[in-house]
Amino acid sequence: MNVSVVGTGYVGTTLSACLADLGHRVTAIDIDEGTVERLNEGETPIHEPGLGSLVSAYAGRRLTASTDHAAAAETDLTVLAVGTPAKADGSIDAAALVAAAEDVGEAIAEKDGYHLVVVKSTVLPDVIEGEVVPAIETASGKTDGGSLGVAVNPEFLREGSAVDDFMNPDKIVLGTDGDERALDALAELYQPLLSEWEIPVVETGRREAAMIKYANNAFLAAKISLINDIGNVCKEFGVDAYEVADAIGLDSRIGSAFLRSGVGWGGSCFPKDTAALAAAAESVGYEPLVIDATIELNDRQPERLLELLDAHVDVDGRRIAVLGLAFKPGTDDVRGSRAKPVVRGLLDRGADVVAYDPRAAENMAEAFPDIEYAGSAAEALEGAHGAAVVTDWPEFGDLDAAFDAMADPVVVDGRRVVARREGITYEGLTW
Ligand code: UGA
Repeated sequence: MNVSVVGTGYVGTTLSACLADLGHRVTAIDIDEGTVERLNEGETPIHEPGLGSLVSAYAGRRLTASTDHAAAAETDLTVLAVGTPAKADGSIDAAALVAAAEDVGEAIAEKDGYHLVVVKSTVLPDVIEGEVVPAIETASGKTDGGSLGVAVNPEFLREGSAVDDFMNPDKIVLGTDGDERALDALAELYQPLLSEWEIPVVETGRREAAMIKYANNAFLAAKISLINDIGNVCKEFGVDAYEVADAIGLDSRIGSAFLRSGVGWGGSCFPKDTAALAAAAESVGYEPLVIDATIELNDRQPERLLELLDAHVDVDGRRIAVLGLAFKPGTDDVRGSRAKPVVRGLLDRGADVVAYDPRAAENMAEAFPDIEYAGSAAEALEGAHGAAVVTDWPEFGDLDAAFDAMADPVVVDGRRVVARREGITYEGLTW
């Protein structure tokens, strides 16, 4: 197929490269000239395992990039994969998505025949029906259900394993309201994957497809918050929450994934999507009790970690190490990272913070330019009166000698990555 993808963030770029790998001819469209230039030179604008080799293999061949939305008219379908950031009240800002929808609408106005627009961006049902579809219709002069099709096809890619997740999905969700032409085009798009693996394909309405994405992320975030809640209770009773989680995970109705308790969830998706779902519920007068509690518990976990530290050391005026700044290992992304409230809480207590992360220090320095950044975990720990472990980078499991160089070897672990041992005062957040 001839496909255009608008947006070159981690979803758009991953999608463009993977669709090229499936055999499609892909045009990636973005308003950012620098990104387009880099893609055309075979460089990826983002770091994802496996992505660089795909982009360099297909750039200039099956994968080209352009700043001109007119390219969409030359393709069979256009995927919208632009960001939908959060506003201050938690609701989503769909302005970039609607602008992209208008640009694509203008581009396909002169196209003869049917064009399918596939919405990948995470948006609430009303935004699709109330803003995206009208924007394309007005700009193109085409009618939804006539020579225009609009489908909703959410993504479930994780940062750090996006290529792998695309190639091995748990499910493919096609929201088309039963539009046969849209379903045929999407079946052709995913055919190389579907012919290779047995992947459940969910054919549903557009509104349902949009909601499935939010429900998926809200459920996962709630699962972590629930195990954190249970973990906090476990800690109070001297029970190891990880042993409890291992056992309950064996119940097939619960499942073992996403039961790692600790300092909480972050990233560019869970915080934004849970807030958007809660804001949407409130906008129609419904109080989403579990979603609200999911968010509130997550907001409290960093403070619990600091209270564990307080129990052993007065941090005021003392050097305290923060190990791990990224929202999860394998990324330099600090959006929604639990390290931010941890650092803020330490600064509020008067601590002298020295932070270390193998990849995310530079990004963290934008939020906290005045704290010290160490070049290694050992350097951060040297002379420190306490350490808070916030990201589960595997290297933190191997710091034995470095803990001995601390002024006070007090370690509070928010991710169960450091082993409890003689010679250090060790506290696990939920164990
Ligand atoms: C998440 C979802 O997992 C993807 O399916 C979804 O496509 C994506 O959001 C999105 O909406 O785009 P991601 O944010 O990349 O993916 O990260 P996850 O690997 O899901 O981790 C999220 C957070 O949960 C991290 O801070 C991680 O440390 C935390 N976590 C995860 C736990 O605290 N405990 C666990 O057991 C698992």
